[in-house]
Amino acid sequence: MTSPAPLYRERFGRPPEILITSPGRVNLIGEHTDYNDGLVLPAAINRAIVVAAGLNDANRIRLYAAAFDAPVEFPATAPAEVPLAGWARYAQGVAIQLAARGVILRGVDAVIAGDLPIGSGLSSSAALEIAMALALEHAAGVTVPPRERALLCHQAEVEFVGVPCGIMDQFAVSLCRRGHALFLDCRSLDTHHIPLPADVVLAVCDTGVRRSLQDSRYADRRHECEAAVRLLQARRPAMASLRDVTPDDLPLVDDLPAPLRGRGRHVVTENVRVIETARALESGDTGRLREIFLASHHSLRDDYGVSSPELDAMVAAALEAPGCLAARLTGAGFGGAVVALVCRDRQDAFLKAVARGYRRRTNRTGTYFTSQATGGAEATAT
Ligand code: GLA
Repeated sequence: MTSPAPLYRERFGRPPEILITSPGRVNLIGEHTDYNDGLVLPAAINRAIVVAAGLNDANRIRLYAAAFDAPVEFPATAPAEVPLAGWARYAQGVAIQLAARGVILRGVDAVIAGDLPIGSGLSSSAALEIAMALALEHAAGVTVPPRERALLCHQAEVEFVGVPCGIMDQFAVSLCRRGHALFLDCRSLDTHHIPLPADVVLAVCDTGVRRSLQDSRYADRRHECEAAVRLLQARRPAMASLRDVTPDDLPLVDDLPAPLRGRGRHVVTENVRVIETARALESGDTGRLREIFLASHHSLRDDYGVSSPELDAMVAAALEAPGCLAARLTGAGFGGAVVALVCRDRQDAFLKAVARGYRRRTNRTGTYFTSQATGGAEATAT
């Protein structure tokens, strides 16, 4: 990946002080469960947002995103003064959240670059937020603990950008560990790192169909889950969220009107699949993953209503490609990417075959790469 350091030097006339690498993520399983207090299992990937940053004495936060070729700036002492638009809002939201926690922000110059595709469901927003938090912390001379950083970045996205996302992405970008998936309980915030088999790689198969979480269908799903809980509470007042609904309670869920019945059933069964996946990985029983992932994909398609013809075609193409252990849509759905677990020594053959199979089914090209599970965001002095 090309470093943003030369661009930084060109724009600001001096070398950067730090380079921040903030990875994207795939979610192995546990989709649309995070905002229902449920379980998720993401892993960070080797595509990242990379930020070159250094202090300035202008007391301004000056940002330049290579992909958008548009410099923006705002005062460090009053980060909310002039509300910015587009990608810069994510950065500004993080500055506002840090300031709200009593961090005295100082002027910083930053160039934002990297190779993480935007809008493919690989968490480019969370990667940008966490990178900005690290840059602003560096300038302010403080270190926010990684969990708190994840929470404040999530709050920035929900409250300032206005995207009603769950906490999975910011936690994944912040806490993932190399070679591991991150098991996160979104209610207790307990985490543990689950080793992934060394002979398996993560394949990202992007349908090329873009979607945005600002898309109202994501918020619709959240509201449907809340509506399902309200109806369930009439019979079980102690149910605070769909997390409290066990597989034994599924007959209650089946009594709900459509589409709430399907939404509830997906969340309840998906939480079980996260546990099954974690157990299969921990016990080396990777043969089980195909069935679990496929059940998740079908549940997202039929009960949750977030798949698309392209995502279904990509999963079918992946499953028939050599070396594929398991495949399902990853992230919010409605477009974006499929994740597949692939035998390391078959990855080249897999990538060729999945591209061919997807093209045959949809007449579209798609983009494809494989990755190891990598570590979360980190800053290194230059
Ligand atoms: C997006 C959101 C996450 C999560 C997923 C669906 O990636 O940012 O919080 O809800 O969708 O699992």
